[in-house]
Amino acid sequence: MTGIAERNEPVATAPSGATGHLLALTDITKRFQTARADTLALDHVSLEVRPREIVCIVGPSGCGKSTLLNIAAGIDAHFDGTATFEGEPIKGMARERAVVFQEPALFPWLNVRANVEFGLKLRGVSKADRNSIVDQQLEMVNLTKFDRAYIHELSGGMKQRVQLARALAVEPHMLMMDEPFAALDAQTRDDLQMELQGVAGRIGATVLFVTHNVREAVILGDRVVVMSKSPGRIRRIIDIPLGRPRTPDDHDVADFAAMVRAELQESSNEPRYAI
Ligand SMILES: Nc1ncnc2c1ncn2[C@@H]1O[C@H](COP(=O)(O)OP(=O)(O)O)[C@@H](O)[C@H]1O
Ligand SMILES: [Mg+2]
Repeated sequence: MTGIAERNEPVATAPSGATGHLLALTDITKRFQTARADTLALDHVSLEVRPREIVCIVGPSGCGKSTLLNIAAGIDAHFDGTATFEGEPIKGMARERAVVFQEPALFPWLNVRANVEFGLKLRGVSKADRNSIVDQQLEMVNLTKFDRAYIHELSGGMKQRVQLARALAVEPHMLMMDEPFAALDAQTRDDLQMELQGVAGRIGATVLFVTHNVREAVILGDRVVVMSKSPGRIRRIIDIPLGRPRTPDDHDVADFAAMVRAELQESSNEPRYAI
């Protein structure tokens, strides 16, 4: 993916294998052993993500969503099975795979512009190029007017926009997001879902997006991976062949959300999924 390409331009990804996937997690089993508990967090989980696809993982708390994302991101290297990205085994975190978490990890002593610029500086990008990339990214997430603001001056939604801009600035080949909107109020969350759809569509981003919010998964996902708990397994992968942008009020979104919710409820004794 390139941060500045249009949807119909070639994307700077190198799909691997005959299926053309970018990320391939195959037969992943992950066990956490502590003095208190022995948890089988993932039990033979396989998932492939193709270029330009948004794949959402949904499931109850503790079903292994973050564990799976951490393996894909290269944060967790201790597991059984194979994890490859662009055909190569995943070994540690890499620029190609940008990660965005629920809690913004921004530098409070830097303003918005400097936060977005940070990774570019590390890569030795020239000042002129940095400026133009940062301008583009800030425009994309509607923060142009706030480029000199400091992090403490921003709302939660604006902080997540800065995170997104910063992640995209270094032109990752894939974006991995772990409940990035979970701490936001409902309206801000709706807004950011719209913006992420827009941004991802414009630049042809490939996204792995973890959420426990069913409607969010259906709004964002080209495919929704439904996980079940204890042990963490993929129960079903549901294609969402709806046009974009999708809004929370679309009837089709509600129908697919009901389908996902039914799948979750069948796999769980906790009938607590709101759509
Ligand atoms: N570092 C850890 N040590 C021990 N157990 C863990 C650790 N991280 C996660 N787990 C356990 O693994 C399971 C899956 O956790 P997680 O992937 O965080 O779930 P989710 O993101 O779906 O809420 C849970 O039972 C959790 O308690
Ligand atoms: Mg989690």
